[in-house]
Amino acid sequence: MNQPVTVSRDADVAVITLDNPPVNALSFHLRAPLMTALETLRDDDTVKAMVLTCAGRTFVAGADITEFGKPMQRPDLRDLIATLEKIEKPTVAAIHGTALGGGLELALGCHFRVAVKEARLGLPEVKLGLLPGAGGTVRLPYILGPRKALKVIVSGTPIGAGEALQGGLVDALHDGELVANAVAFARAKVAEGGPFKAVRDRRERIEEADLAAFDADAAELAKKARGLEAPVACAQSVRNAITLPFDEALAKERDFFVHLVSGEQSRAQRHLFFAEREAAKVAGVGKDVKPREIRRAGIIGAGTMGGGIAMSFVNGGIPVTLLEMSKEALDRGLATIEKNYAISVSRGSLAEDAKTKRMAMFTGTTDYADLADCDIIIEAVFEDMDVKKDVFGKLDKIAKAGAILASNTSYLDVDQIAAITARPQDVVGLHFFSPANVMKLLEIVRGKKTAPDVLATALAVAKRIAKVPVVVGVCHGFVGNRMLAARSADSEDLLLEGASPAEVDKSFTDFGWPMGPFQMADLAGLDIGWRNRKSLGKTAAIADPLCEQGRFGQKTGKGYYLYENGRTPKNDPEVEKLIEEKARERGIERREISAEEITERSLYPMINEGARILEEGIAARASDIDIVWVNGYGFPVGKGGPMFWAEAHGLKKIVERLDHWHTRTGKAVFEPAPLLRRLAASGGSFAELREAAA
Ligand code: CAA
Repeated sequence: MNQPVTVSRDADVAVITLDNPPVNALSFHLRAPLMTALETLRDDDTVKAMVLTCAGRTFVAGADITEFGKPMQRPDLRDLIATLEKIEKPTVAAIHGTALGGGLELALGCHFRVAVKEARLGLPEVKLGLLPGAGGTVRLPYILGPRKALKVIVSGTPIGAGEALQGGLVDALHDGELVANAVAFARAKVAEGGPFKAVRDRRERIEEADLAAFDADAAELAKKARGLEAPVACAQSVRNAITLPFDEALAKERDFFVHLVSGEQSRAQRHLFFAEREAAKVAGVGKDVKPREIRRAGIIGAGTMGGGIAMSFVNGGIPVTLLEMSKEALDRGLATIEKNYAISVSRGSLAEDAKTKRMAMFTGTTDYADLADCDIIIEAVFEDMDVKKDVFGKLDKIAKAGAILASNTSYLDVDQIAAITARPQDVVGLHFFSPANVMKLLEIVRGKKTAPDVLATALAVAKRIAKVPVVVGVCHGFVGNRMLAARSADSEDLLLEGASPAEVDKSFTDFGWPMGPFQMADLAGLDIGWRNRKSLGKTAAIADPLCEQGRFGQKTGKGYYLYENGRTPKNDPEVEKLIEEKARERGIERREISAEEITERSLYPMINEGARILEEGIAARASDIDIVWVNGYGFPVGKGGPMFWAEAHGLKKIVERLDHWHTRTGKAVFEPAPLLRRLAASGGSFAELREAAA
């Protein structure tokens, strides 16, 4: 192992290099020698200035997250920053890669920061259910001003070095030779002469702060927090930076941190951080498996789904050939894409010339032969096995050797689709979620014959186009939609037995979901499910008569709810009447249904199905299921995903209540999965399962 801290000298400037792969996290084994180095160099009169830099791919990416929840060994990061800040000779952080969280806080302990142009700086703690706990919510407002700092802290999204320079967070940018330039910068500062002001003494931006405007921003933000504690604590802490003396604000920030780090939400969000990284590790796809090169993608279908997928590729820098059946459909698809980009331009999130560049990356066609030079081809056509087989038959004839052939199916058997081709090893499912240019989740469906390098390519492409990938096995509906079906299996009975759509939906939004199942159904359109049911000879007690009345949801202004002005749902007495009538026809006596019962009859079956998915090996780990649900279906991040939540909630209780509802309704979705029953009985956890398999 390399030395985590080394000190070298460039004449009278000392260079401290941190080296703690992979991301230079501030683990104890780095903090201790760093403290020694700082104290030694501080007291060494031959040292006139100090540069703090990092080896490897990045500047410090934060505290070591694995140390959270354990007793913190001293020196902690605050000790280091306090020591650094008191040094009277000029101190310069030299930043490349990402300076994140504790990394940026450490850099804020220096008098100056210089960076390469590609560097990014941010405080992503909010994404871990935390606030920056080593002065970030106080020092950043001192530099950027409180309103700008609040934005950076609460979004958790890093800013580029250019923006950091403009805001004064970075003092100089360099093209390369970072350390040499940082040394020259430090030497120039020595020549200018001190005293050098620590960030804590630079109060100008605080004194000119507009507290009323800040409070308005913070109030706006609190509305969007949807039950998450961290963003609210961040805002309160930044406010303290304005209203309190520096050290008091710092002490209060610490209190917030201590409270949040031991809370359920942060534990859940830290679980998701590691779960996302775990999901990218796939059995049989080791580091030795090299992904295929992807220079151009072909997308079949320019409808909502195909268009969204095409935009994702172009946004990730991969040119797209977009195929439609007719010139009219193609033009319509391209016009929608252009309109979507125009909306981004009008919101200020995309520059006009970037929009022009992106539009130039689309090539439209109605001829399959034009897909011959694509390295990956994804079909997003009608969800019907015969239609899919027809498309794959055509692709097999025209696609170049080694091209990846992918289906965006949300339910169908990828092995059957692959079998129509002479190259099943090149076939994979890539299940995007609508709107595909926005939603993060990508279910990568591994067929029986899918080659390891095809999976490696799918994972690499997902990263390029900013998706969160999870590899799943073949089954009806894969992980997400299969569990969604279990979640809604009892919904109509809840209505018939006495709940209103609004009561069911409210229990979901109170739990933290962005919307409930009936609002969601109205948004997606009730006609799709109706058509499916008819083709399968199935019926639904409430949804069918709604559709027969032309109530397809938001698009017709009526569904489970009434939409008198656009998207706001309103209770509709006619729906209530319909539900009562259908209950009467079935001899059901309606009663009051509690929020707890709604949870038991919707979330528990979904978790039960998750356990079956694990038993069957459709998902490799419970945490993969969590990633699917948080990124594809709006499961509240502060609860860590359904399987994480289930464990915290108590598997024993879940099994007991599933048994209860199974006895009462006889429905298979309530019959506890053997795995769930076993873990509940033994007091075991899903994580142990994974360890046993490893
Ligand atoms: N602590 C511990 N491990 C970390 C880590 C951290 N802060 N950041 C990354 N890692 C680990 C990852 O788990 C991963 O491990 P495996 O290879 O074993 O899976 C490895 O480092 C590489 O990470 P990525 O796969 O994410 O690499 P990447 O190149 O795609 O991204 C990155 C690099 C942008 C730095 C990204 O890792 C990242 O965003 N890291 C987290 C940054 C963060 O949240 N920092 C704040 C920490 S909290 C804090 O600092 C609190 C405070 O105020 C004191």
